[in-house]
Amino acid sequence: MKHIIIITGAGKGIGKAIALDFAKASKTYHDFEPVLILVSRTLSDLETVAVQCRDFGAAVDIIQADIADMAQIDQLVNVTLERYGAIDCLVNNAGVGRFKPFTELTVEDYEYTMATNLKGTFFLTQKVFPVMEKNKSGHIFFITSIAAETAFKSSSLYSMSKFGQKGFLEAIRLYAKSCNVRITNVMPGAVYTPMWGEVPEEMKGVMMMPEDISAPLVNAYLLPQRTSVEELVIRPVGGDINE
Ligand SMILES: NC(=O)c1ccc[n+]([C@@H]2O[C@H](COP(=O)([O-])OP(=O)(O)OC[C@H]3O[C@@H](n4cnc5c(N)ncnc54)[C@H](OP(=O)(O)O)[C@@H]3O)[C@@H](O)[C@H]2O)c1
Repeated sequence: MKHIIIITGAGKGIGKAIALDFAKASKTYHDFEPVLILVSRTLSDLETVAVQCRDFGAAVDIIQADIADMAQIDQLVNVTLERYGAIDCLVNNAGVGRFKPFTELTVEDYEYTMATNLKGTFFLTQKVFPVMEKNKSGHIFFITSIAAETAFKSSSLYSMSKFGQKGFLEAIRLYAKSCNVRITNVMPGAVYTPMWGEVPEEMKGVMMMPEDISAPLVNAYLLPQRTSVEELVIRPVGGDINE
């Protein structure tokens, strides 16, 4: 059976691992035929991930889009529906972070963070949800963070946006339950991805890897429709590594 799956931020890090794990699952489960719609702002990243996913036999489409831009959200959803006629899964993974003491954060840092993490995530979900509501089926993942409920000193803006995502997803779960749509909040601790930039070796050694997040996410999707994994909290075994 075909599953139309949109993954935002699929070019790098956790989103790339999610795309690859959905693609790999198509080899294990013969009735699972994912059509992966890979989304980010950087076309070359998406092309690289697409080749790797196709190697596992998955169907892949690429849509270069900035989810902070309302017109590009509309185009992303409209093009997906024109090409495939359905959306079975949305992975709200695209996210950005500016990590500094809160006294040093600028208006530009604020607007950049909120435009993707809050505005983009909100309006993309708002555009996709009615499609799932009509089908009485669907699954929306939000890759929030442990920073959606735990404060860290350098994460004031990031945490604001992630607490906001958590509030939003909990509100839409109230709509989703009545139309058989599953909402999963994925809350990872520190994962070694390009988001962190340069990381000292000793810190890298205690961080999680993107596949540590993507594997449980794909398993949650593949559970029977009657079951909804509402939260996945995934931390490095030694606990949180930043303050
Ligand atoms: N890494 C961690 O420790 C960690 C922990 C908890 C939660 N998270 C969350 O997990 C998600 C993925 O993080 P990551 O660490 O994998 O980050 P990453 O390595 O920086 O990758 C982020 C991806 O999102 C895309 N993206 C960012 N803004 C976008 C926008 N406006 N429109 C479309 N695509 C956009 C980026 O591509 P382009 O720049 O090319 O658009 C990239 O492909 C984020 O929401 C993050 O907050 C990460």
